[in-house]
Amino acid sequence: MAESMKGMKRSHRCAEVTEVEIGQKVTLMGWVQKNRNKGGIIFVDLRDRSGIMQLIFENGSIDEEGFEKAAKLRSEFVIAVTGTVEARSGAVNENLKTGKIEIRVDYLRILSESETPPFPIEENSKTKDELRLRHRYLDLRRPDIQRNLMMRSQVAMLTRQFMADEGFLEIETPMLTKSTPEGARDYLVPSRVHPGKFYALPQSPQLFKQLLMCSGYDRYIQIARCFRDEDLRADRQPEFTQIDMELSFVDVDDVIDVNERLLSYLFKEVLNVDVQLPIQRMSWQEAMDRFGSDKPDLRFGMELTDVSEVVSDCEFVVFKGALENGGSVRGINAKGQGGMPRKKIDKLVEFAKGYGAKGLAYIAIQEDGSMKSSFAKFMTDEQMAALVKAMDGQAGDLLLFAADRNKIVWNVLGALRLEIAGQMELLDKNEYRFVWITEFPLLEWSDEENRYMAMHHPFTMPMEEDWDKIDSDPGSVRAKAYDIVLNGTEIGGGSVRIHQDNIQEKMFEVLGFTKEQAWDQFGFLLSAFKYGVPPHAGLAYGLDRLVMLMAQMDSIRDVIAFPKVKDASCLMTAAPDVVSETQLEELSLDIKITEEETE
Ligand code: AMO
Ligand code: AMP
Repeated sequence: MAESMKGMKRSHRCAEVTEVEIGQKVTLMGWVQKNRNKGGIIFVDLRDRSGIMQLIFENGSIDEEGFEKAAKLRSEFVIAVTGTVEARSGAVNENLKTGKIEIRVDYLRILSESETPPFPIEENSKTKDELRLRHRYLDLRRPDIQRNLMMRSQVAMLTRQFMADEGFLEIETPMLTKSTPEGARDYLVPSRVHPGKFYALPQSPQLFKQLLMCSGYDRYIQIARCFRDEDLRADRQPEFTQIDMELSFVDVDDVIDVNERLLSYLFKEVLNVDVQLPIQRMSWQEAMDRFGSDKPDLRFGMELTDVSEVVSDCEFVVFKGALENGGSVRGINAKGQGGMPRKKIDKLVEFAKGYGAKGLAYIAIQEDGSMKSSFAKFMTDEQMAALVKAMDGQAGDLLLFAADRNKIVWNVLGALRLEIAGQMELLDKNEYRFVWITEFPLLEWSDEENRYMAMHHPFTMPMEEDWDKIDSDPGSVRAKAYDIVLNGTEIGGGSVRIHQDNIQEKMFEVLGFTKEQAWDQFGFLLSAFKYGVPPHAGLAYGLDRLVMLMAQMDSIRDVIAFPKVKDASCLMTAAPDVVSETQLEELSLDIKITEEETE
């Protein structure tokens, strides 16, 4: 039977008791991890979020009734005990923080019993994700997840503290709002009072934080929940959390400065890692040319080499065709991989095709200097030699080439570079390599929409030195936008915002918005700007991504208490779910699909 807490008060968490307390009485409460009954003596591992403490129950130290109760304990029972801290009678457990001590229990209460859990509560669980997520409340008891969530709490707490010291105000912005132009699909909430109308859940607090600057709040921060209806991946959830900030009377360097100090503070306090300041900066163009990615992982080399010039007069149609169509031929050198079996190379070719490549040309330089290549027959010996030289190919190297439009070549080689580094085990999770990516293109051509789209958002400030090209060559105009990248993951991004009417109007024109459309969507921001707007800039981190990397996890699910799975459903609550007819009627909604389709 479950007993009450009456008269008992916890004195410590399990792993907070140390050798200093030897001889003292303590009261601990928690879950039974393990129970070993050795006849006259029973050992129980007691667990709470601080860790494990070994309890001993021995006839004589505890009365008969207590001893019998202890014999009934099973995994996940919740108990309270009082006892004396002692040095371990048996072998010291070096793997445990409390491995040198134990508690000799003189009083036991069973606060609640437990059925046998559907999977063991243990670190590095081998249990399938699906089962764990269906019983997330049990999964959350596992020590590794508990450590992650404690770290997340610490990061949020330290961020608030640091930002408050820097003069930032924490201000909340609405969850029920109008759609913001961030590119992804919105989650919509139907209005009961306004039949046929919808709120949108915020994709970010972008417009509100800009309004707060107009209202003179100067320095804003919010740890804000954001919602985006997009395809999920390991680093993407439909709802996630941003550390969101905006500053007035600043330019790029000011935003970067405060954020570098924030990052350095967080990494020192949480991980005792020194972040070398200033953090390296790299232009978007350089990142693409060298790493094929706007979020380059700098923990290893394997940089891209543009060999377009070298192969410009060869007869290989793949190379020739790409160059004639305004594209390029680029390669990477996977050092020491020249002996890779053909089958494995074929897999890399398939991998490349997954990223839009039509193929992947290779030269595998054998240890004896001979070459195996998929396209040597189309080349002269001199051309091959020149190509190998340009790639710094040595005996034992594997050279991989993609030929296509630049965008595809970057995408393919950028992904391939990471894939091969993974295979070669070049990615050290203990190494934290930050880089700011700056000078992004302002606009990106969309084939689908047949117009330019804002790469960041329509309020991003162009670089002054490029603005005169906005009509003649809009694609070449760079923006005052920046991303902060850690080990190949974009952990945050932001920009300086446009605060001048004429630039904003021109931007809308280039983006193909009529004046009416612009006012219809962003009227409240545009009118606020008529009444005195300070120059302002900001940035937002993905808190989940930041903590994922700090905790050295592979998925943001591991740092979110109740995450969603790939199809954006929650396995535990079964959300999203159907609602009653009455609810639909109140909202003036008709569901068009049949019941089977909702399954
Ligand atoms: P952005 O869209 O780049 O910028 O978002 C900022 C950061 O949020 C994280 N993030 C996500 N994390 C988990 N799941 C997602 N679906 C997801 N989408 C984004 C990323 C990203 O770097 N308003 C601007 C910021 C600004 O300009 O100040 C914005 O939202 O780590
Ligand atoms: P093929 O002429 O189809 O036999 O191709 C010869 C080699 O070129 C094969 O190894 C292909 O995988 C490779 N290849 C084909 N298209 C491309 C491309 N766009 N970029 C790089 N290599 C390619």
